[in-house]
Amino acid sequence: MPVTILAIESSCDDTSAAVIRDGVVLSNCVANQEVHQLYGGVVPEVASRAHQANIIPVVTLALKQAGVTKTDLTAVAFTRGPGLLGSLLVGTSFAKALALSFDLPLIEVNHLTAHVLAHFAEEPKPEFPFLCLTVSGGHTQIMEVRDFHDLEILGQTIDDAAGEAFDKSGKLLGLGYPAGPLIDKYARLGQPRFPFPEPEVPGLNFSFSGLKTSILYFIKRETAANPDFITQNLHDICASIQARIVTILLKKLRKAARQTGIRAIAIAGGVSANSGLREALTAMGEQEGWTTYIPAFQYCTDNAGMIGVAAYYKYLRGEFCEQNVTPFAR
Ligand code: KG4
Ligand code: ZN
Repeated sequence: MPVTILAIESSCDDTSAAVIRDGVVLSNCVANQEVHQLYGGVVPEVASRAHQANIIPVVTLALKQAGVTKTDLTAVAFTRGPGLLGSLLVGTSFAKALALSFDLPLIEVNHLTAHVLAHFAEEPKPEFPFLCLTVSGGHTQIMEVRDFHDLEILGQTIDDAAGEAFDKSGKLLGLGYPAGPLIDKYARLGQPRFPFPEPEVPGLNFSFSGLKTSILYFIKRETAANPDFITQNLHDICASIQARIVTILLKKLRKAARQTGIRAIAIAGGVSANSGLREALTAMGEQEGWTTYIPAFQYCTDNAGMIGVAAYYKYLRGEFCEQNVTPFAR
């Protein structure tokens, strides 16, 4: 009997459902919530209501695209946390109800573990142990991944996440939300000629709040002298912000690789879609003699495919949860 898992992701502002059979992703559907663009960031209450509206159509589409019916399912998986509690509640309640009505086992998945294990959705799959830099809107961490179930955080941000650094800088430039993809697009057209400072953070931890402040003062100073400064220099400003974020990330990743002696290096999370980071990682990998793993775009940002892949490895170990399981925010 094949193992067919329906996976649900609803931790932030993307409602996603996927069907995974024997570890292979058959469908991976995402409904983005564009409504948050009006507010320049995710509004939690609005996100949970949008999840409620989206979840049944998205699950129906995922089953249809996979050519699977509810009676073919072996288990139901969902993101338990971390994330926005109201958003997580929608996915959790939906998964529980479905599992209860079809008498299926339930699998809870940690969102950050799933970003890392997204690398097992496609070939080439990394060999253990590997290091993974997970960079998203909510998290920035370097993990040593020894096994599907044995992940250790070696370093993480002490303030903002890398995605937040992109989004908040973009907000200062008057760009829409999320600004990460826009900064990426404009950066490709510019030169990193504005030197933003690099924080001094001990060990393998990161900090991005100082960068945000220096960008704020830079913009204030320059626009006081020339009100059109941003429009006239947008591409170069974006290239400079992106270049600095990328060097902050990769310097720590290189330090972690040298400290641990691990040469299999992966990136994950929404910011791993960034073209500057992808190129710089490849270049550093060649210099350092690493084997690098960069996920396909559909597995970078939040998606249920990665939840299903992580759930599959829990299924193989019989790691199920009860109906009284509750989501967690952090
Ligand atoms: O993993 P994700 O979809 O959601 C969280 O778990 O947070 O990551 C979303 C983050 C946002 O901050 C977004 O701006 C950033 O990923 N992002 C990017 C790019 N695509 C998404 N940042 C830089 N360059 C991109 N191409
Ligand atoms: Zn995420």
